[in-house]
Parts: sequence; structure tokens; C-alpha cells
Amino acid sequence: MDALKVGIIGYGYWGPNLARNFYELPTSDLVAVADRKEDQLKRAQSKYPQVKLTNDYQELFKMGLDGVVISTPPKTHFQIAKDCLLHDLHVLIEKPMTLNSRDGEELIELAEARGLTLMVGHTFEYNSAVQALKKYIESRELGDLYYLDTARLNLGLFQRDSNVLWDLAPHDISILLYLLDKKPVSVSAQGMPCVIPGIYDVAYLNLIFPDNLTAYVHVSWLDPCKVRRVTVVGSKKMAVYNDMESEGKIKLYDKGIDAPDYTNGFGEFQYNYRSGDITIPNIHFAEPLREECMHFIDSIANHTEPKSSGHSGLRVTKILEAAQRSIANGSMHEVIQW
Ligand SMILES: NC(=O)c1ccc[n+]([C@@H]2O[C@H](COP(=O)([O-])OP(=O)(O)OC[C@H]3O[C@@H](n4cnc5c(N)ncnc54)[C@H](O)[C@@H]3O)[C@@H](O)[C@H]2O)c1
Repeated sequence: MDALKVGIIGYGYWGPNLARNFYELPTSDLVAVADRKEDQLKRAQSKYPQVKLTNDYQELFKMGLDGVVISTPPKTHFQIAKDCLLHDLHVLIEKPMTLNSRDGEELIELAEARGLTLMVGHTFEYNSAVQALKKYIESRELGDLYYLDTARLNLGLFQRDSNVLWDLAPHDISILLYLLDKKPVSVSAQGMPCVIPGIYDVAYLNLIFPDNLTAYVHVSWLDPCKVRRVTVVGSKKMAVYNDMESEGKIKLYDKGIDAPDYTNGFGEFQYNYRSGDITIPNIHFAEPLREECMHFIDSIANHTEPKSSGHSGLRVTKILEAAQRSIANGSMHEVIQW
């Protein structure tokens, strides 16, 4: 197959990372970059002098591209993606795919009707540490799962037209859906607007999966410590993925408690604490975004559904919508309609 001709729409904070990957991959050509802001286009020009630049993404439709990557603010995703699909371009769209499920459904229908690839930038599904966690869960090395807990905390980056739920929680929700391969039944959420009135900068989510499996998600733009952590607690072992570690991102703890059989005898009721080895598996770590970009190209070339397809983006949007409703309803559990 010829190299995939790609255009990037949105060259702010994240767009340059996508541009670098599509530029460096032998299976793609970075043909054009579109951004509304001249200073962003100048940055792109100094890095890639041969690439075409435009402040109007619709100019890309005249350039013979195969696909586009949309890394503009979330409120613009739907309109730009729809326009690109209507011009028969394959689309890789950043998270969150859309800000409501109706728009997500429309994009999926459009892509399917036109035989186009619609993929969402759920980068962590392409992260080898997350893939290793999934293997530990599926091989039952951790035993029966008791609960999962994720934390994505930092100071900043404040945004006026989004909130921390829609900005950071898509990462953790996509990780949970990928790890468990199940859809949650309900979600409850609490959000706090500490700095800017009406914009949640701290949020806690509680997702209930089938069989009462519970997951907690804590996201914050207002925390003194940078934390990027997923904890999976099982009946046999516990696993922690700490993305802040440069080496040893995953630790497997042979820790747990075995409850004794019921007894009436006082003194016989003793818990059995297990505190065994902590294992740090050697995980070959490739850049997740590089894997994601390669997967986009492969999905188009092979006409296969991407792992983080439009359907996966829609599932995340539905959960975020329900979490947003729950915050408005005093943290009541919201059943998610699938
Ligand atoms: N996968 C990840 O790990 C990850 C990380 C960061 C951001 N993101 C996502 O990437 C997207 C962009 O985030 P960001 O932090 O780079 O935002 P940003 O505000 O830094 O950059 C967005 C850029 O889009 C441009 N833009 C806006 N509207 C446009 C339009 N109609 N046409 C062309 N350009 C337009 C802006 O001028 C800006 O340069 C968001 O959806 C965000 O959630 C993903």
C-alpha cells in the first residue's frame, strides 16, 4: 500500500505529537497541517518546511488526502469530523470523541455508511503497561477482582470551555472499559468547581459494572502532586500501574487477606494476612502514541475495525454524560442506557 496521506487539524499542545508520529512513520506522509492560529502554523512550518499549511481545515479537502487527525478542542470535534467524513476521509479523532452521544452516533453511522475508518485517540489502549494489566486480569493471576481505582491528578491545565470530567476522565474510563471488556451499569459522580465558578476542577466517579464490580476514578486539575495511577485489587494479588515511574511502571503485589471460615469460638477468628513478593515485570515499552498512529494506518489498510473505534468513543461519551447528570442530581447513581 502507498503511504497514507495525512492531514493534522489542530496544532496546539497535542497536535504536534501526532504530527511527529505521522511524519516519522514510513507508512504515512504528513501532507498538511491546519490550525486557525498563525503562530501555531509558524511552529509547524519551522519543523516541517515541506508540509502545506492552512488556517481553514476545509482546504485539506482539495489536497488528495486519505485521512485526517483531529486534535482541536472537544466542542469542535463533531462538526469537523462530520465534514471530513462527508469528504470521504478516514478520521482519527482525539478524546473525548464528541460532547454528546447523539453526535457520536451520527459520526459512527456516517463512517459505516461510507466504509470509512473512525477511530478515537484512546492512547492508553496502546500502552504496553495497560496491556500487561489486562493480561494479569484475564489470566486470573489477580484472582477474583474486588475493585479498581484510578487517579489522574495534577496542578493545571485549567480550561474555560471544558471541565476536568470531560478532559481527564476519558483516559481512565477508556482504560477501565479496555481492562474489563464490560460496560458499566451505572455511574455516580461528584464534581467540585473550586477555582472557576461552574467549571469542575476535581471529580470523583464511582462506576458499577455487572456482578457489582466497582471502579473508582479520581481526576483533578487541582492537586499538589502529579499522579497517574491505576490499582487493581484481586483476591489473589494486587497490581499497580504507576505511569510516573520511568522503570517498573507495573508492580504486582502478592498481598491479600484470607478470611477464616465462620466460627463461634472467640480467639479462633483470625484473618490470614499474606504479604509475599513484589514483582516488577519487565515490559517492553514503545511510545503508545506511535502504536496508536500505526494502528490507524493498519485499520485503514486492512479494512478492520480499530480497537478504539467510534463505538468505543461513544461508550466513553455515554458514561461521561451520565456522570455529568449524576453531578447535577446530587451524586445519585445514573443508569447508563446502552
Ligand atoms: N490522547 C491524549 O493523551 C491527549 C493529550 C492532550 C490532549 N488531547 C486531546 O487533544 C485535543 C486538543 O487538545 P490540546 O490540548 O492540544 O488543545 P489546544 O487548545 O492546545 O490546541 C487546539 C488547537 O486547535 C486549533 N483549532 C481550534 N479550532 C480549530 C479549527 N476549527 N480548525 C483548525 N484548528 C482549530 C487551535 O487554534 C489550537 O491550536 C483535545 O481533544 C484533547 O482532549 C489528547
